[in-house]
Amino acid sequence: MSSVLIQNGTVVNADASVKADLLIDGAVIKEVRAGIPAGAADKVVDATGLLVLPGGIDAHTHLDMPFGGTNSADDFETGTRAAAIGGTTTIVDFAIQARGTKMRTALDTWWKKAEGKACIDYGLHMIVTDLPDAGLEDMDDLVREGVASFKLFMAYPNVLMVDDATIYKALRQTAKNGALICMHAENGSVIDVIVQQALAEGKTAPIHHMLTRPTKAEAEAVHRAIAMAEIAGVPIYIVHLSSEDALNQVREARDRGLPAFAETCPQYLLLSIEDMANKGWEVAKYVFTPPLREKKNQPKLWDGLRKDNLQVVSTDHCPFCFADQKSLGKDDFTKIPNGGPGIENRLQLLHHHGVVEGNFSINRFVELVSTAPARIFGMYPKKGVLQAGSDADLVLWDPAENYTISAKTHHMKVDYSMFEGFKVRGNARDVYSRGELIVSGGKFAGKAGRGKYLRREARGGAWT
Ligand code: URP
Ligand code: ZN
Ligand code: ZN
Repeated sequence: MSSVLIQNGTVVNADASVKADLLIDGAVIKEVRAGIPAGAADKVVDATGLLVLPGGIDAHTHLDMPFGGTNSADDFETGTRAAAIGGTTTIVDFAIQARGTKMRTALDTWWKKAEGKACIDYGLHMIVTDLPDAGLEDMDDLVREGVASFKLFMAYPNVLMVDDATIYKALRQTAKNGALICMHAENGSVIDVIVQQALAEGKTAPIHHMLTRPTKAEAEAVHRAIAMAEIAGVPIYIVHLSSEDALNQVREARDRGLPAFAETCPQYLLLSIEDMANKGWEVAKYVFTPPLREKKNQPKLWDGLRKDNLQVVSTDHCPFCFADQKSLGKDDFTKIPNGGPGIENRLQLLHHHGVVEGNFSINRFVELVSTAPARIFGMYPKKGVLQAGSDADLVLWDPAENYTISAKTHHMKVDYSMFEGFKVRGNARDVYSRGELIVSGGKFAGKAGRGKYLRREARGGAWT
């Protein structure tokens, strides 16, 4: 493998931006400093006017996932290719334990799904659906395989939801094995009653997905999850946090010094229930869980990102085609497969609405989309930072490129975009993954199957 010198760019890390050259030697970064001579490398790339960013890390994706009676539309090839084009060089996807089986079986199944397909490196969280006492050792086994985090659901009764005893046992086990529990926090039992009542009243249209999941049901579950983590004496990470009510619970816990962490997603920052007016059946494109909220929540979420009450922005990319998958719920909103696409557009949207619009600095942007997920999910400093010794996962980012998001031009294998027509400034020009150029001038230049499984470290909250 050859060496590449990236000259004249601005190297941006979470802590500082410096005018510097960056030398890649094989798969890793050898040096970052001003004035590295051109003769030091086989190839020189001029990055004048560009930012050199650590590759994006999307810690919440669902590729090739069976859900809602169908499978998410992107597999590991199409999903990771689209991610790369958008400047993401690592994902952490979710394997799902089938009830009554060992988690290890699910890990093997997901490794097979990714084999020969992943274009970028990938880690796996494990979704725990039941936890007999033997399952606790099962968790430890997975931690040894680099599965440093587990997701549990307080929603989707009879499908993925687990009870508080299971949650508490899993949390307690992480005190021993150092893994992190990621929580889908919504009170599924209460929501189910509200949903059944809506159906009984003939309210079957997709808008009722949003109207039957109150923010208080999210806040209650966030509160309960954090309380159980506090009793167990371990950190907790709330996934896809969507509302001010829920954020208040995280902030209150953090103000008390608890290691409570949370992510939000572009859809909650940029789309709202008000945007659904007059959309009719098209609202199905935006059926995901937690649902879109009232617009008044958005400034609170941006504030949470600025003040570090939210640490990460992930996508929760879980695409289903509008034409032939969302239509499963044409007569009943509860049958619409839950999820939306976004893996390709996270950096563009966050750069534009975060940095260009003055919500936070370029360094905070890097922290939210790369450094913090690397630290929290046991990949740092291999990933998430541009420094000597780290993997050469980096993006040459053009902060001045104007780009319009559209399903007509995107690379995700889904027939709509949640951000159709959004105009953004800033885009990935070239992307390197472990020193290989995988996107050149905005075009995919990598290979399916080159992405490697990432064994992540379970740090027991050492990153707090
Ligand atoms: O609606 C969503 N979010 N689908 C993906 C599964 C999940 O809960 O993250
Ligand atoms: Zn979830
Ligand atoms: Zn998800």
